[in-house]
Amino acid sequence: MLNRLTPQSPDALLALIKMYAADERADKIDLGVGVYRTDSGDTPVFRAVKAAERVLVEQQDSKSYLGPEGDHAFVHALIPYVFGRADGGLLRRIEGMQTPGGTGAVRLAVALAKEAGATRIHLGTPSWPNHAQIVHDVGLEVATFDHACEDGTANVAAALAAIEGAGEGEVILLHGCCHNPTGIDYTQAQWEQLAEALAGGKVLPILDIAYQGLGQGMEEDVAGVRTVLARVPEALVAYSCDKNFGLYRDRVGAFYMLARETEDLPAITSNANALARANWSMPPDHGAAAVRIALQDAGLEKTWLEELDEMRQRMRQVRRTLAAADNRVPGLNLRALEQQNGLFAMLPLGKDQIARLREDHGVYMAGSGRINIAGLHSGNIDRFVAALADVTG
Ligand code: LMR
Repeated sequence: MLNRLTPQSPDALLALIKMYAADERADKIDLGVGVYRTDSGDTPVFRAVKAAERVLVEQQDSKSYLGPEGDHAFVHALIPYVFGRADGGLLRRIEGMQTPGGTGAVRLAVALAKEAGATRIHLGTPSWPNHAQIVHDVGLEVATFDHACEDGTANVAAALAAIEGAGEGEVILLHGCCHNPTGIDYTQAQWEQLAEALAGGKVLPILDIAYQGLGQGMEEDVAGVRTVLARVPEALVAYSCDKNFGLYRDRVGAFYMLARETEDLPAITSNANALARANWSMPPDHGAAAVRIALQDAGLEKTWLEELDEMRQRMRQVRRTLAAADNRVPGLNLRALEQQNGLFAMLPLGKDQIARLREDHGVYMAGSGRINIAGLHSGNIDRFVAALADVTG
């Protein structure tokens, strides 16, 4: 029966990694998959993570199973960062579990919403391509609305219209910060409008936080999400440590459920546990254990926050440099990139221009026109701008 299967096209972003690796030009530029790079173009292991891993190797005396919910202390150590320290009332309505990466958490969120009766998820487009793939794979319908306006700001009117027009029990998936692929986040005033629209509880929000600390700051990046969480009766939160701890291949994520009442949590979490068990049984331990150790040690936590600061400052500098080059590439509105956040920005380039960038200049970017800001550094940014000018001129 396996011979009945027809070939699927490879995931475009993962195919790009292979194409880039096969290119022998020494000055090629990788703006594809979303990993952070230093000004030398490397993706090192965080100093705080390395130190935590050493402690882990020394301290760990068993690798026996933990269960579908994974490392509870890891999940709880993240809570002050995600939800804040202050609001005891809110914290009593939250429970969480560990997941394989932020992707695992998104999958659990969608599957749990389906289990609770949801049939349709509203998604601002463009979005991370895997969002729609996961929703389809779980068996829900995707309804789209425009995430961004042409001037490079968020189209909150479209999101509000989607919420307004949604039926009872439908779901909306919102990026918490550092929107992937556009870098265009809602302003605080817009988050307040979204919170107001969601407050009645007709539409369930799934909030995907994959880049906390890589936009404006640890607190700033979740201010909007917290505004929503403070108003809504229920929400699901997908969280990734893959980027803000640089643990990509270790797959470190968390999934949080905000319930109407504390008493609702056991039933909700038991369903999430059952779904996790059927999907991956239990999440991988190593990366989450390293994060837990880093967060429980004041010195390592400080080192981690300093490392994140460095990353964020560097990406803001790249954005300022691109914005300042706006007059060299008319028509792309590079100036808008300075106001946007995180690893990504979308350039309105055609397929031919993206192919010419790759073939003539060795510049690799997603077919959507998304670039990874962190792939640019002092050694290649000028050449990148010249290549853009060439293909758009
Ligand atoms: C990306 O968008 O580049 C990352 O989130 C990696 C991935 O899994 O797609």
